[in-house]
Amino acid sequence: MSLLTELDSIQEEAVAALNGVATEADLEQFRLAYLGKKGKVTAASAGMRDVPKEDKPLVGQKLNEVRTAISSAIDERQSALTAERDAQAVKGIDVTLPGRRPLTGSLHPLTQVLDQAVNTLRRMGFALAEGPEIETEWHCFDALNTPPDHPARNETDTFYFENGKLLRTHTSTVQIRTMETQAPPVRIIAPGSAFRRDEIDATHLTVFNQLEGLYVDENVTLADLKGTLEYFLRCVFGDDTEVRFRPHFFPFTEPSFEVDMKLHATGKDAKWIEIAGCGMVDPNVFKAVSQTRGDAAYDPEKVTGFAFGMGLDRLAMLMYGLPDLRLLIENDTRFLKQFA
Ligand code: DAH
Repeated sequence: MSLLTELDSIQEEAVAALNGVATEADLEQFRLAYLGKKGKVTAASAGMRDVPKEDKPLVGQKLNEVRTAISSAIDERQSALTAERDAQAVKGIDVTLPGRRPLTGSLHPLTQVLDQAVNTLRRMGFALAEGPEIETEWHCFDALNTPPDHPARNETDTFYFENGKLLRTHTSTVQIRTMETQAPPVRIIAPGSAFRRDEIDATHLTVFNQLEGLYVDENVTLADLKGTLEYFLRCVFGDDTEVRFRPHFFPFTEPSFEVDMKLHATGKDAKWIEIAGCGMVDPNVFKAVSQTRGDAAYDPEKVTGFAFGMGLDRLAMLMYGLPDLRLLIENDTRFLKQFA
């Protein structure tokens, strides 16, 4: 029966010694010392050999009890050590303080207007197109029937590079690029930045955003142009939006118009505001494109088209009643948060 007594004292010794184990590494050593292959409990269990047969069940049971007791005491100590380590890690930190809320961003008002405009026009059958911001004079002016003596081409109006290229002054360049590579029918919109050497003030920026549109097919008429723009503006700004077309001049369209819009939703006294230029594509533009293409896909006798270009920043100004365009580029979060 001395094995029983031995087991009892192993258990007692182990449980008493456990409190002195101060680190997790020591605890692992401790576990090996008792329960490991060469541990005390394992060594004692070798004594089973000499236990008389009739006592074996009792001693065997005792052996299991001792092993379980030591094992769970070790587990308990382990939890205590872990808890101590955690407590140490947050010492001096008030864990009851509310956490810092991570800031979530939101879409820039200009992006919101752009998304809305693009979604509306895509539903109307226009596909997205794009072109480079650094352009050739051909795509920006010549192909758009804009002669060398046109004021828009002055050094004082446009940013030129030494290699003769320039920052596009409008997104109308994408009309030319699209027609050079795609045969009619084409129905595209091209949002993007445009650049001019303007003095910056409440209604002018040197970098601004436009949305260009082009529709070329057989039998496209002015009625299509008018219907498209009116429908578009009413979708975006509301059914009671008034739209008017004023005769104007653009080199690349004939006839040409400026589009004004009168909003009733802004609360202030509604007044007419110019929002876009548009017109029927000038036959000279088709001729320029045909020259690059070397085919008759854009034969001005066969196809007609309309084009429009609007100021996206202006649209945003109107939509949100902004007093100053510069608000859109200052990135003042007090302003931007209002559109979250
Ligand atoms: N490109 C013109 C501008 O920047 C706007 C414009 C007018 C675009 C008439 C057009 C158009 O497509 O047909 O002032």
